[in-house]
Amino acid sequence: MNRDGNALIRFRQLGPSDRTAIAGLAAAAFDGNRFYQNALGLDARRFALYWDAFFHLALRDSAAAVYGLEQNGRLEAAAAVAFDGFPRASRGARYLLTLLRRLGFRAWLRYLRFVRAYERVMRRPAPERQLEACGLWLFVRPDAASAGLGSRLARDSIEAVRARGKLLITGLVDASNRPLLSFYHRLAFAVTPPFPFAGMPAAVIERWLVSRDAPLEALKEGAPCSS
Ligand SMILES: CC(C)(COP(=O)(O)OP(=O)(O)OC[C@H]1O[C@@H](n2cnc3c(N)ncnc32)[C@H](O)[C@@H]1OP(=O)(O)O)[C@@H](O)C(=O)NCCC(=O)NCCS
Repeated sequence: MNRDGNALIRFRQLGPSDRTAIAGLAAAAFDGNRFYQNALGLDARRFALYWDAFFHLALRDSAAAVYGLEQNGRLEAAAAVAFDGFPRASRGARYLLTLLRRLGFRAWLRYLRFVRAYERVMRRPAPERQLEACGLWLFVRPDAASAGLGSRLARDSIEAVRARGKLLITGLVDASNRPLLSFYHRLAFAVTPPFPFAGMPAAVIERWLVSRDAPLEALKEGAPCSS
């Protein structure tokens, strides 16, 4: 915990009791975001239902971690990260059933297509998957944006996943959002050229936390156990 100006800022891993706060924050941060609303095929109402179901899952699944930044006690920014094996089978099945009930069949089917396409694009060889922390979501409360919270949360989250033995950070981003691409460039991520994804231009970002000269097997052996 420390101070920025007069604000008390605290980084922590979130848990099930943070679900309402984080789902509301995500709905506010992605309100009107064409990339995700189009790619996922969810309108604002369904998106809100999705957030609640997603965080119910991610805050309980040991193959995921959700980190948050609080400023003066209020959650202002959050990041959801998935590790190899997320979601765990039984929780994943319950999550999909919940989504089916909440979204309706057509929106649910479109969501499943999105997830399949996402998994195809993000697939890595098994040795890399064990070292990977895949950033699913990163967002800041709109009225707290551009004050450094997003970068700070990203850096703190990277250190948190490094402490779990993860050495590769990945994500999928909206390639038409130039400020977002600069944001990740500044955080030392490599960004692929844009490609079409669910009808939108997307790019994969990645950052290795170690030199790639070492063979992957050696990295894995030196890394502490994860999840
Ligand atoms: C992207 C985001 C997390 C950045 O958080 P932040 O606290 O505003 O970022 P910082 O203050 O640390 O850094 C500012 C930089 O973020 C980027 N940025 C600012 N607003 C942005 C926006 N609406 N969308 C994307 N990137 C933005 C710019 O590069 C900006 O740099 P600049 O001030 O020199 O232009 C935040 O804008 C956000 O929540 N966007 C909506 C959700 C989203 O698109 N998340 C990313 C994909 S999961």
